[in-house]
Amino acid sequence: MADKAPAELPENVPQHIAIIMDGNGRWAQSRGLPRLAGHRAGTENLRRIIKACVEFGVKYLTIYAFSTENWGRPEDEVSGLMGIFDEVFERELAELDKQGVQLHHIGRLENLRDSLREKMLAGIEKTKNNDRLVLNVAFNYGGRDEVIHAVQQLVKDGVDPDEITEELLSGYMYTKGVPDPDLVIRTSGEQRISNFLIWQSAYSEWIFPETFWPDFGREELLAAIQDYGRRERRYGLVLES
Ligand code: FPP
Repeated sequence: MADKAPAELPENVPQHIAIIMDGNGRWAQSRGLPRLAGHRAGTENLRRIIKACVEFGVKYLTIYAFSTENWGRPEDEVSGLMGIFDEVFERELAELDKQGVQLHHIGRLENLRDSLREKMLAGIEKTKNNDRLVLNVAFNYGGRDEVIHAVQQLVKDGVDPDEITEELLSGYMYTKGVPDPDLVIRTSGEQRISNFLIWQSAYSEWIFPETFWPDFGREELLAAIQDYGRRERRYGLVLES
């Protein structure tokens, strides 16, 4: 656990938290601002949440930044988001590195614009020896696309069908080597999976706070971790009393 972990933390802090950062658009619209202003505010909030995860001793944080379906949004929103990502990866990298964050990417890098792909790869390289928090950025990511990609690789590797186990298939996912998420949070009151970590979240606990992502701060994260701490995970079993 991190040195300065607050006393209100439960003993079983989730090792891996995954977040669907939803509600940026509605946050902006409710203030009469353009949707991109919501994405900018969401980006600021991400910085706070990463810091809080380091503080709380969370070891893995996976964030849903851009899905394979998000390309279908209006062109100006997509290009605005790409501009934000481009800017943010460059601006935040030194700070992430300083905090001991190891950057990972999950999804398809190949059809991103060159500048973005290069910044992402450079960030992964620069932070590869950090060990306080692994930050998985799901970018151009889709859960079904991930399963298809894994099956394609299995077939290419000539794996014997009888050899296929859950562990083996997990090793073909983009999250290879990362434990499954203990807790998945989707902000903004929406209660859907939206193609996020569909394989990995089979036994995750889910929390759906009403708060829009830009306002989901450290205290709400702490409350979600406390809620998680009170839950009993059964993995389909019956626990002895
Ligand atoms: C969902 O809100 C949010 C997104 C599709 C983008 C999330 C991206 C960020 C927070 C930017 C920061 C990320 C990185 C990696 C720098 P929405 O637009 O669906 O909101 P709405 O449901 O209210 O319309």
